[in-house]
Amino acid sequence: MINITATPVHTLDSPIDHLNACHRRIEERLNTLERVAPRLLSDSTEALAAIESVFRFFDLSGVNHTADEEESFFPRLFPRITAEERQFLEGLKIEHTRAESIYEELKIHVANMANPPAALDQIRYTELAAALCDLYRQHIQNEDARFPALASRALSATDLDGISREMKQRREL
Ligand SMILES: [Fe+2]
Ligand SMILES: [Fe+2]
Repeated sequence: MINITATPVHTLDSPIDHLNACHRRIEERLNTLERVAPRLLSDSTEALAAIESVFRFFDLSGVNHTADEEESFFPRLFPRITAEERQFLEGLKIEHTRAESIYEELKIHVANMANPPAALDQIRYTELAAALCDLYRQHIQNEDARFPALASRALSATDLDGISREMKQRREL
């Protein structure tokens, strides 16, 4: 079995590249959440195992990813960017909060589903998974479109070293 919670250490030395690699891993998990929805009734054991595995990833790597952005990148960027760019970062924070709230709702729904899930459980699961996927895919697109260029321009090598150190500490590496 693949350990989906593992963090590839090599990209932690290049924090901006690491964010990009994380986005690709998050997209894979979002695809899984959507893909298993039709199988919740026909193959519920396997579908639920896949969902739980995605939840473990988000609870660990997803939380670290948001902390990397909000606690390591954003505070260093804020004093060095334009007012419009600060607004862009504030918008990303709002998206994080929205995604966390839908994710929590999805987790509660999965925890409370009948075993095996009923048709109504599947309908609600599909709605919540779609809402999370739509929001987070758009969020990733927003970040990919501007964040790497903004961070590369505004942060010094010393900043990036500091961010890399914090990212490793966050993962106890
Ligand atoms: Fe983000
Ligand atoms: Fe991100």
